[in-house]
Amino acid sequence: MKLRVDLLPHGNYSDTVLVIDVLRATTTAVTYLERGAESLLLTSSPDVALSLKWQPGVHDDAGEAVRNEQYLLGGERGGLAIPGFDFGNSPQEASQQNFTGKTIIMNTTNGTAAAHIAAQSGSRVLLASLTNAHAAARRAKALAVEEIAIVCAGTDGRVGLEDVYAAGVIAEYLLALGELSVDDGARIALTLRRSAGNPLEALSSSQHGQTLEKLGLGEDVRYAAQVSESTLVPVMSEVQDIEGALR
Ligand code: MLT
Repeated sequence: MKLRVDLLPHGNYSDTVLVIDVLRATTTAVTYLERGAESLLLTSSPDVALSLKWQPGVHDDAGEAVRNEQYLLGGERGGLAIPGFDFGNSPQEASQQNFTGKTIIMNTTNGTAAAHIAAQSGSRVLLASLTNAHAAARRAKALAVEEIAIVCAGTDGRVGLEDVYAAGVIAEYLLALGELSVDDGARIALTLRRSAGNPLEALSSSQHGQTLEKLGLGEDVRYAAQVSESTLVPVMSEVQDIEGALR
């Protein structure tokens, strides 16, 4: 079995892919499921998400548009909630809510885009974070045929230390599950995992972690640093519908 780590998404995947966006999309996605969400839709743009918010052509007696009750919209630009969305992209806030019976429609700057890139190559896409690291490693090992690719979302096209660190944590779990031939990206991730301190130290030292702290979203950094708290692993279907949403 081969293990490769892409420090940023590349898009040519053929087997099993773990997409990581620790701060914060994949951490938030795992939390939505932990809090009872039935499914997640990752859209290719905020407009696709907003188009799903209302029942098409349906209005109440006052002539107001009527919501699609089963859908809630979560996402961010610049770390802050997208106008018209029900909430931003905070896993800590999500952990305080009950999403039973809901489908969460997500669109974020980096994480949902990385998932789309991976899914477009027809590969099997799983969402991974520190919070579900061990479960994600076990699921990927069980599903992969020849290669596990760990794809780091990064931030605004730049490598994110927090994602590479999480890739190193997952790579260590995978090495404990059996022999792997690792590429240079995996070796970089393992080296970072072994040198950047504990998870909270690593995430707090990252550029995006510091940005979130400045935005008053430091609780998300602390929340995202909880390793293997969850056994839930979001698996993206390979079907892209609703103009680029992934079911
Ligand atoms: C994302 O999750 O796509 C981005 O990393 C931005 C964020 O939520 O802070």
